[in-house]
Amino acid sequence: MTSANGTALITGASSGLGALYADRLARRGFDLVLVARGKEARATVAQSITETTGRAVTTVQADLGNTEDLRRVEAILKNDATITMLVNNSGVGSVEPLLRANVDNMERMIEINVIALTRLVYAAVPAFVGRQRGTIINLASALALASGMFNGVYGASKAFVAYGPQCE
Ligand SMILES: NC(=O)c1ccc[n+]([C@@H]2O[C@H](COP(=O)([O-])OP(=O)(O)OC[C@H]3O[C@@H](n4cnc5c(N)ncnc54)[C@H](OP(=O)(O)O)[C@@H]3O)[C@@H](O)[C@H]2O)c1
Repeated sequence: MTSANGTALITGASSGLGALYADRLARRGFDLVLVARGKEARATVAQSITETTGRAVTTVQADLGNTEDLRRVEAILKNDATITMLVNNSGVGSVEPLLRANVDNMERMIEINVIALTRLVYAAVPAFVGRQRGTIINLASALALASGMFNGVYGASKAFVAYGPQCE
């Protein structure tokens, strides 16, 4: 049976907070689309949730730093009318100061924490407005309020999440 709550699409649902969101939302009656790169971990989370809650769980293998994969996830948000929630959870962290941090890793962090999150918000909002229903949860960080601590690019990326894509 399709859930009355609809479907939550969660990025980075193969571990950590994303897997926790998946479990809690399924227990609250949402069906799920779980997005991540890691096939095995994603499948394990999906199977465990289906067994414990009976909710429908679909998995999507996608590297959100890869343009083609990102566009596929955007298309799901635009075209799957059952989706009522986006949890933008995928994130890359760093605590290394600038002199020790690798600039390619910083670029990757910006791609995931900022670019992918923004594109997914911009895919979801018009679809949710059109359906007159939808919720977006963007995972920021307390370091958004102290972006000079640890790695500044991480803090700034999370400040972007906290203050960036807004719905007027
Ligand atoms: N944990 C904390 O204390 C904390 C505090 C403040 C904010 N946050 C934020 O909360 C979110 C989750 O944190 P977490 O600690 O639970 O992280 P985590 O355990 O490292 O999990 C990160 C998730 O993101 C996915 N991911 C990473 N790179 C990806 C990519 N290129 N494409 C698609 N998915 C990708 C990973 O899946 P795959 O590797 O399978 O792709 C994984 O499921 C992050 O945005 C983080 O910045 C966490």
